[in-house]
This record gives sequence, structure tokens and C-alpha cells, in this order.
Amino acid sequence: MDNSDSRRKPHVYGKLLMAVILTAFCILILKQSPKFSGSNVFSRHEPGVTHVLVTGGAGYIGSHAALRLLTDSYRVTIVDNLSRGNLGAIRVLQQLFPEPGRLQFIFADLGDARAANRIFAENAFDAVMHFAAVAYVGESTLEPLRYYHNITANTLVILEAMAAHGVKTLIYSSTCATYGEPEKMPITEETPQLPINPYGKAKKMAEDIILDFSKRSDMAVMILRYFNVIGSDPEGRLGEAPRPELREHGRISGACFDAALGIIPGLKVKGTDYATSDGTCIRDYIDVTDLVDAHVKALDKARPNKVGIYNVGTGKGRSVKEFVEACKKATEVNIKVDYLERRPGDYAEVYSDPSKINLELNWTAHYTDLQKSLSTAWRWQKSHPNGYRSPSAMSV
Ligand SMILES: NC(=O)c1ccc[n+]([C@@H]2O[C@H](COP(=O)([O-])OP(=O)(O)OC[C@H]3O[C@@H](n4cnc5c(N)ncnc54)[C@H](O)[C@@H]3O)[C@@H](O)[C@H]2O)c1
Repeated sequence: MDNSDSRRKPHVYGKLLMAVILTAFCILILKQSPKFSGSNVFSRHEPGVTHVLVTGGAGYIGSHAALRLLTDSYRVTIVDNLSRGNLGAIRVLQQLFPEPGRLQFIFADLGDARAANRIFAENAFDAVMHFAAVAYVGESTLEPLRYYHNITANTLVILEAMAAHGVKTLIYSSTCATYGEPEKMPITEETPQLPINPYGKAKKMAEDIILDFSKRSDMAVMILRYFNVIGSDPEGRLGEAPRPELREHGRISGACFDAALGIIPGLKVKGTDYATSDGTCIRDYIDVTDLVDAHVKALDKARPNKVGIYNVGTGKGRSVKEFVEACKKATEVNIKVDYLERRPGDYAEVYSDPSKINLELNWTAHYTDLQKSLSTAWRWQKSHPNGYRSPSAMSV
């Protein structure tokens, strides 16, 4: 007689028992999760509370925007894939706003439409500030497809998710790079957009998608075209900390500080034969504190069926040479400067006419002062020579 069945039975019962225990354990854990019990405040609209999704909130501008929104009592969800941002910035924000229902961080890639859709399904957003992007002109000329994908295609993902889940307000991070190299300065919002590098083209395409969609929806849209962003939180809580591997593509302020810290031997100024007063490029630098203020004002003035497009700059152009001198003063380091050939994709002179945003959003650049903005940013850099990885690790 084969009695293997009866021998196997105790084994099967054991497995069954284990499965029951595991299932009960999972249900217990799930029940303790706020989402299961329906007590997750992020998933419900609450009268008097505006819940803003900040994409790219672990990055430089997004983290400063999140700080301002939280300070102003908004509820904030940050979505970031940490490809370029810093978990350290999120931690700073979490420490500043630990109360339940103020801030949540979701690690996700916005290129993943299913993940984005799930985030919108599980959360009750009132508005989206879409900062997440790869954002280096030089890099975009080397990796154009990455830029079109990350900027243009991902904006489409966000818009589709917003449409599917009834989120009706979008504040979009655009750039003066969408104008290319206009013949006439200053740049107004009416200046033709003729971008000359993949970064500017990808942002222009994203703008076009948003504008076409807005014609057929009642979405409130604000497109902010930033000029060159500098500075950091005046209270020294946040700063600009790009990944070391991105240094070669980095922006001028980062390079100046790296040179002052001795991380790089000196500063490379690319292009001295532009048709400008001293041969170096002219840019319109805007302090990040002013920039995030423009976002909050844009959010406040956003209305259904309305599109607002605004330049965010000071209206004053400063040359790279002037910038370098201001940086030397701010850091009190006599930074070594090498003057090199032009960089592909760069344009000679760019500065804004900010009168439209002054008039319609009652916004002006109050904080921006090249010297002061760089001094503020330098204080953070000096106390965070390794970015968010080792705060106060070194005093210079
Ligand atoms: N810094 C400037 O001078 C400047 C000027 C004009 C416009 N902008 C725009 O402002 C926005 C923010 O720029 P920044 O300087 O803070 O850049 P940043 O690199 O510091 O921040 C971008 C953030 O987006 C995240 N991100 C990128 N791709 C993502 C993805 N697929 N899914 C989820 N997260 C993703 C990164 O991890 C990072 O945290 C960008 O849209 C940029 O184009 C910046």
C-alpha cells in the first residue's frame, strides 16, 4: 500500500498554517498603514488646504520651492527619481516640517507612465509644479534624445495623468533657452521662440503640448520662463548641489564655487569673442528666492481656462567677467580663470523684459543682487563642501 499521501499531510498542513499566519500578518501591517485605513490625508482634498505636487523637488529649484510652499502652509508631495537631486534636501525639508500631512516624498521616475498614473490615483493634488527635468544646455547637445524624452515626453505623461485625474492647475518650469538667440534685446514673451539647442527645443515642445492641451481643457496654466538661476536659501537650509559627475556640464556659479573650494583647479570661461561689451556672454541672473516667489504668485493667480506665460528675470544683463569678479569677492578667493573657445549651443546675450510679470503677477526681483546672492550661496557651499552628503564637514 502506498501511504505517501498520509505522510505528506502533516507537511501540507504546516505549509497551510504558515500561509494563514503570513496572510494575517500582512493584513495587520496593511491595516496599520494610513492608506489602508483611509486616513492618509494626502489622498483627500481638504477645504482650505492646497496640495501641490512638486516634481523634481529633490533638485535645486524644486527643493527651494517646496520649502517656500511648506512655509506658506501648503501641503506638498515631492516626486523625484533622485537621478540628479539629493535625498539630503528631502531630509532637511522633512526635519523642518515633520507634522503629519505636510510633506511626503515619493521616489518615482516620471518617465514611467504607470507609476505616474498610480501616484495621481492615490493622491488628491490641487496643483502641479513641474520642475523635474535634465537641465544642462551642453549635455543636451551631446545627448539630445535623453533631453526630448526626459523633458518633452515626461511632460506629456504628467499632463495625461493630470487630465485623467482631474488636476486642474499646472505651473511649468520653462526657460529662456526656448528663445534661442533673438536679435532684439530685451526678450519679451512675444519674442519668437527659436531655440538653438536640444534643451531649449525640448522645453519649447513641452510648452506647445501644454498650450495645445489647454485650448481643449479648463486647465489653469502658468508657464514660467526662467533666466539664469543663482543663490540659495538665505537661512542656509538648502543649497545647490549637483552631482560631481555633472560638473563638466555645470552652471557658472557651481564652477566658481568649486574653484574657490579647490575642488577644481580654476574656472574655464568659454567664449571671449562674442559681440558683447567685454566679449563674454551676457546673462540675466535671478535669485532662487525671487524665482520661487514667482511660482507662489503664479499659483495664486492661476485661473481655469487661462494661460499665463511669463519671463522670470531681472531685466539686467551681466557679463561672465562681471560674474567672475562678483564670485571672487563673495568667496574672497582669487580664482584662477582660463579663457577658452566657445561652447557649442551657447548664445551671446540674453536678458529679459520682466514687465509682464511685474504688472500681472505683481512680482519683482527683490532679493537678486549678484554679489549678495553669490555670498549667500557661498555660505552654504562652504559649510557643505560635499553637498548634502556631509553637512558642516569642513570649514574653509
Ligand atoms: N537652474 C537654472 O538655471 C534653470 C534655468 C531655467 C529653467 N530651469 C528649469 O528648472 C527646473 C529645475 O531645474 P534645477 O536647476 O533645479 O535642476 P536639478 O537637476 O537640480 O533638479 C531637477 C530634479 O528633477 C529630478 N528628475 C529629473 N528627471 C526626473 C524623472 N524622470 N523623474 C523624476 N524626477 C526627475 C532630478 O532628480 C532632480 O532632483 C528644470 O525644469 C529646468 O529645466 C532651470
